[in-house]
Amino acid sequence: MADKKLEQLRRLKAEAQAGGGEKRIASQHNQGKLTARERLAILFDEGSFVEMDVFVHHRSTNFDMADTYAPGDGVVTGYGQVDGRLVFAYAQDFTVLGGSLGEYHANKIVKAQEMALKMGAPIVGLNDSGGARIQEGVASLSGYGKIFYNNTIASGVIPQISVIMGPCAGGAVYSPAITDFIFMVDGTSQMFITGPQVIETVTGEKISAEDLGGARTHNSKSGNAHFIGKDDADTLTKVKTLLSYLPSNNLETAPYVPTSDDPNRLTPMFDGLVPENPNKAYDMYKVIRGIADDGEYMDVAGDFAKNIITCYIRLGGNTVGVVANQPAVAAGCLDIDASDKAARFVRRCDAFNIPLLVLEDVPGFLPGTDQEHGGIIRHGAKLLYAFAEATVPRVTLILRKAYGGAYIAMNNKELGADLVLAWPTAQIAVMGASGAANIVFKNDIKNADDPVAVRTEKIAEYEEKFNNPYRAAELGYVEDVIVPRESRPRLISAFDMLASKRDARPAKKHGDIPL
Ligand code: HXC
Repeated sequence: MADKKLEQLRRLKAEAQAGGGEKRIASQHNQGKLTARERLAILFDEGSFVEMDVFVHHRSTNFDMADTYAPGDGVVTGYGQVDGRLVFAYAQDFTVLGGSLGEYHANKIVKAQEMALKMGAPIVGLNDSGGARIQEGVASLSGYGKIFYNNTIASGVIPQISVIMGPCAGGAVYSPAITDFIFMVDGTSQMFITGPQVIETVTGEKISAEDLGGARTHNSKSGNAHFIGKDDADTLTKVKTLLSYLPSNNLETAPYVPTSDDPNRLTPMFDGLVPENPNKAYDMYKVIRGIADDGEYMDVAGDFAKNIITCYIRLGGNTVGVVANQPAVAAGCLDIDASDKAARFVRRCDAFNIPLLVLEDVPGFLPGTDQEHGGIIRHGAKLLYAFAEATVPRVTLILRKAYGGAYIAMNNKELGADLVLAWPTAQIAVMGASGAANIVFKNDIKNADDPVAVRTEKIAEYEEKFNNPYRAAELGYVEDVIVPRESRPRLISAFDMLASKRDARPAKKHGDIPL
């Protein structure tokens, strides 16, 4: 009898875990996609994934649903270890009713979300779905509503990571959009609110699903996605790397990762890195690699708004979030997209107790009617707001230009930076010397016998007076001017000093960030 019961249990589990059957699994593989369970096996430490609700099934009787067997109702949910730490996950199973989301499919995801929140563990959602289950109508929509609500409640409490590994269409995109990070798989994932057919019907535009909402589009054009992987395995490996930089929840700090990289290591190349000519660019990634433990960093939204870099590094084994102007792209100007990207990154770091390092070389906000009419005032304000409200340790290192409002927006002293350091090449001023000379010495230049010579002389005078870090240091806006090669030890020492920082803001329901 006991054998019979065990036999039944094994059979039922095997049936449920077989998903949509061999034919549909083969079709999934033929598209270069793995199945939900294969994906989870890559994400979690070997043998650690524990499935929940494997026997859950829909109760729909509409159309022919009463006779439709849907193993696990098209989604695999559970928990396990990633690098030894507890993580919850759900993986939509496209081989079962196209991974479409019905009432019980949603209930399973909701349960995983609530358990992740209760346990203070990250949750990873693997999305591969035809969207709302058509046969279940409003019950399906209600399921999405619950998921979006939980996404919002968990925001800033536990890291939420979405991985798009197939279609994700219509309102279904709003769960990933609310989560902290979106990964997409190159060539096999798409996100859009209305698909190519609807667009063609309504506007007449013809566009492929890939061009409309593929991984490259969302990573480089829309900025909706933050990471791209070349296939399922590569993408999931990147998810694991990201998790290694994050704490499990907002009451913890990110895991310490020991390094053999000497905290006192010097970077002699830094001493000659900034070109003499202020109009010449250099690559800020060289600075990031030179400072970081073992030269490693993880770029967040690396293909979007490349004029600003947002990435995670470790300094002396501890995660630090870096916001850096990139002089090699659009001179490192701040524009709408760069402001949005950086502001969101700053808030994510602050929510999860990740200290912030700002590497500054910014000539200002990008001029232009596109920018003004697109709302650069509102978007730029987000960056100021995000820095000002952040209570994590904040250090700014000014490498070269720190001009005007952008100087403030890049975490200056008055916005609450705990420590501001500068290289001797720093220029902290209202604007660049040539622009300043044209305004301040307009009459001297106009009335001179040799206007060119006078202009050159006045530019040099302005540079001498303001385009250096010493005036700001005299006034205490910069704590120290440092030898560039000593940046890594100086920054590690700064974050060590700030490790016990306590800072509070007045109690309020929430602020009114200019969204
Ligand atoms: C029920 C669905 C389904 C759905 C797919 N299937 N989507 N079943 N509800 N939404 C089923 C198919 O009937 C099929 O069943 C199986 O899944 C695989 O689908 P195929 O079409 O054969 O696969 P493929 O050719 O790869 O095309 C995938 C697809 C297409 C592009 C996703 O299936 C599709 O367009 N589906 C409908 C998408 C959609 O309009 N969804 C609603 C979006 S609005 P069999 O038995 O043949 O294997 C939405 C609102 C959310 O989601 C609102 C939140 C607020």
